[in-house]
Amino acid sequence: MSEKKRIIATSALPYANGSIHIGHLVEYLQTDYWVRFQKMRGHDALYVCADDTHGTPIMIRARKEGITPEELIANSQKEHLEDFEKFQIEFDSYHSTHSPENEKMSHRVFQAMEAGGHIEVKSVEQSYCEHDKMFLPDRFVIGTCPSCGADGQYGDSCDKCGATYAPTDLKDPKCSICSSPPIKKASEHLFFKLNDFKEFLREWVPAHTQNEVANKLKEWLDDELRDWDISRDAPYFGFEIPGHPGKYFYVWVDAPIGYLSSTQKWCEQNNLDFDDVWNDEATEIYHFIGKDIVYFHTLFWPAMLKATGLKTPNRVFVHGFLTVNGEKMSKSKGTFIAARQFEQYLDPTHLRYYFACKLNGIGDIDLSFDDFSNRVNSDLIGKITNLGSRGAQMINKKFDGKTTQMTPEGKELVAWVQSRSEVIAELYQGLNFAKAMVEVREIADKANQYFDEKAPWKLIKEDPETTQAILTDILTVFTLMSLYLKPVLPVYAEQVEALFDYPSLEWSDVTLERIEGQLFNTTLQPFKHLSQRVDVKKVEELVEASKA
Ligand code: MSP
Ligand code: ZN
Repeated sequence: MSEKKRIIATSALPYANGSIHIGHLVEYLQTDYWVRFQKMRGHDALYVCADDTHGTPIMIRARKEGITPEELIANSQKEHLEDFEKFQIEFDSYHSTHSPENEKMSHRVFQAMEAGGHIEVKSVEQSYCEHDKMFLPDRFVIGTCPSCGADGQYGDSCDKCGATYAPTDLKDPKCSICSSPPIKKASEHLFFKLNDFKEFLREWVPAHTQNEVANKLKEWLDDELRDWDISRDAPYFGFEIPGHPGKYFYVWVDAPIGYLSSTQKWCEQNNLDFDDVWNDEATEIYHFIGKDIVYFHTLFWPAMLKATGLKTPNRVFVHGFLTVNGEKMSKSKGTFIAARQFEQYLDPTHLRYYFACKLNGIGDIDLSFDDFSNRVNSDLIGKITNLGSRGAQMINKKFDGKTTQMTPEGKELVAWVQSRSEVIAELYQGLNFAKAMVEVREIADKANQYFDEKAPWKLIKEDPETTQAILTDILTVFTLMSLYLKPVLPVYAEQVEALFDYPSLEWSDVTLERIEGQLFNTTLQPFKHLSQRVDVKKVEELVEASKA
C-alpha cells in the first residue's frame, strides 16, 4: 500500500436554522464513506465540519421564537449532532462558525485580502424597512412579479414564471417581517475584487473539479468576474469587520472559513500547528458539496485562500440533488423527510446501504421507496446478511460455535474474493460507491452459490468434519465482505468483528494474516442479528408522518 497521507475532507456546513433531512444525508454520508475508507487504508484522514450559524434568517427566527440567536444555534447544533450520530456519521472535528476561532480566522483572511488591495468600498442601494430599521435581504421582500404579475413572490426570483430580478424591481413590495413597504436606501458596502484572481481561477477550476462543473464555469471565467459584496449592515448576526465599524461579514464569507477554524480546533486539541498542517504540501484537502453551492466553493473560496496564502483544496467534489420517487422532495407528498423522522420508522443502516448503491458521481440521485425496500431486502438481507447468519448459526448449533480451517476449494473462492480488494479500493477512492456495492453483491452471489452447492445441512450427516470446514469457508468470505462494506456499514461491520473478537478490520486485513488466528480453530461469540428486512408498512407510516 502507498504511504500514509494526511487528508482533510469536509462536507458543506449545514445551516443552523434547519433540521438535517435526507437530502443533506446524501452529502454527509458520502463524505463519511470516503473518510472511513481512507482511515481503513491507514491514512491520517480527518472529517471536518461545523454548523453555519450567521445571517439574517437566523436572527429573525430567534426573534420570533423569543430566544437569542446564540440559544437558537446551540439547540440546533445539539440536534444536528444527534442526527449525525444516529446515521453513523463520524466527524473528527465538528465546530461552529460562531466561535472565537472562526472570528479570528475571518479577521486573518479579511486582513490579508485588504492588505493585498483586493477590497473596494462602493455605495449600494437596497431595500430598507423603516419599521424594522434594517436592510432586507432579497428573500425578505415579498411582492408582485414584475414579469408575470404573480403575487406573493420573493425578491430574487418568481416561483411561477422563473424570472430573476432585484427586490427593488418587485411591484407592491412588502417587508416579510412587518408587511410595511420598504424604501430604497444607500449604504457603503465592501467588495472583494474577484477579478484580481481571474487568471489563477481559469487554470485552477478545470484542474480541481469534475469536467461537467468546469464546463459550466467556463462561461463565467471567460468574462470579467464581478466584485463580490462581502459586507452587511447592522443589525446582523455575525462578525463585525475589523476596521469597518457597523459592517458585518456576509454569512458566506465566514462560512467556508469554518473549514479552517474547525480544522484549527482539531489541531489545537492534538498539539499541532494549524498552518503546518493545512499548508503542508503533502496534506490533501477535499471539499464535498452539492451543485447549488458551486460558485462559492470554486470561485470565491479558492480566491480567498490564495489571497491569504493558504493552500487551496486538491479537489472539490460536487454531487447532485436527492429526489424522492422521481420528484423534488415535497412537504405535501410526505417526501421532505427529516433525518430524525426517518430514524423513527426505518433503519439508518439501510439508508447508508441504499445511498451507496446509488452514488456514482455528479448526477442527481433518486430514492424510490419500492427500489429501497427491494434492494435492502433482496441484497443486503437476502444475499449478504443471510450468508453470514446461515453460516454462523449452523456453526453455533451443530459445532458449539467452533470453526476449523478452510477447505481447498474454499481457499480458492477466498483467494478470488481477496483478489477483488484493489478493484474495490479504487472504486471507493473514485467515489464510485455504486460499483463498489455491485462488486460486493457479486461476491455474495458466488458465495451463496457455493453454500447451496455444498449443502452443508445435508453433508453434515455423512461428513461433519468437511461440513465444519465449509462453514469456515463461508464465514471467511463473509468477513471479507464485511471488510469491503465497512466504510458504508461501520456498525454492521463492528457486529461482525464482535463475532470473532476482532478489534477493528483494516483494509490490509484482506491478506487474512492478522485475522487467521481469531477466525480459524476458534469459538465464535454468540451471533447477534445484523439487520432486519424493511417493513413496507413502516415506509408508508414514515411518509404519512412526514406530511404532518
Ligand atoms: N450553509 C451552506 C453551506 C456553507 S459551506 C461553507 C448550505 N447549507 S445547507 O444546509 O443548505 O446545505 C448543506 C449541504 O447539503 C450542501 O452541500 C447542499 O448542496 C446539500 N444538500 C441540501 N439539500 C440537498 C438535497 N436535496 N440533495 C443533495 N444535497 C443537498 O448550503
Ligand atoms: Zn419590516
